[in-house]
Amino acid sequence: MKGALFDLDGVITDTAIYHFAAWCQLVKTHFDADLPDELEEKTKGVSREDSLQIILDYLDIKVSKEKFAALAAEKNQLYVHTLENLSQNDILPGISELLIDLKQHGIKIALASASKNGPFILKKLGLTNSFDAIADPAKITSGKPAPDIFLAAAFALAISPYDCVGIEDSIAGVTAINKAGSVSIGVGEDELNHANKRFKTTSDLNYQDIKKAWQAYHRN
Ligand code: BG6
Ligand code: MG
Repeated sequence: MKGALFDLDGVITDTAIYHFAAWCQLVKTHFDADLPDELEEKTKGVSREDSLQIILDYLDIKVSKEKFAALAAEKNQLYVHTLENLSQNDILPGISELLIDLKQHGIKIALASASKNGPFILKKLGLTNSFDAIADPAKITSGKPAPDIFLAAAFALAISPYDCVGIEDSIAGVTAINKAGSVSIGVGEDELNHANKRFKTTSDLNYQDIKKAWQAYHRN
């Protein structure tokens, strides 16, 4: 194991809830509609544009290209507004310790988030220097569940994806890691049973168990 590829929203900090809250607010304002909870899982890990398309399909609404772009931009404004007070205190339990431990063991660390707000959020959390690379989601053609962002993150570290673990809280993200050929570490419940190893919460994540998971996978 040489590299660790981290998802951001829902793994490093709990911004996943803010994403969905912003979508709900947008849809209420523009279409006077409510979104069911299952759409939260379906949009987790999925790019801004793909999430909007999933939501519009659910509502059975078609919009022009211009309206689509305006809705995506407005959702981002609502979302970024809720990040104003984000600070080091919002790093999820166990993550700071894990980042330090990985570094001490010589593991390179990259961000593999679908979020274009990734660098801004890492800065707010005071974690920019903990990362050796940040894969740019604007430069990839296919978002999660395609493997592209994890492949880009491993490439940025100059490490083979086979020598990396990926850490994710979303169904699409775990699928993306599996397709990239890295060892998938899921953080969540049964919906992540396609992960090579699953932990219930970020507090359960630790270097030794992640390494064991990587070794077990590579013995198979
Ligand atoms: C992912 C989130 O990390 O980033 C998704 O799980 C979100 O919910 C996606 O849609 C894109 O984020 P952003 O910040 O570029 O709109
Ligand atoms: Mg996530």
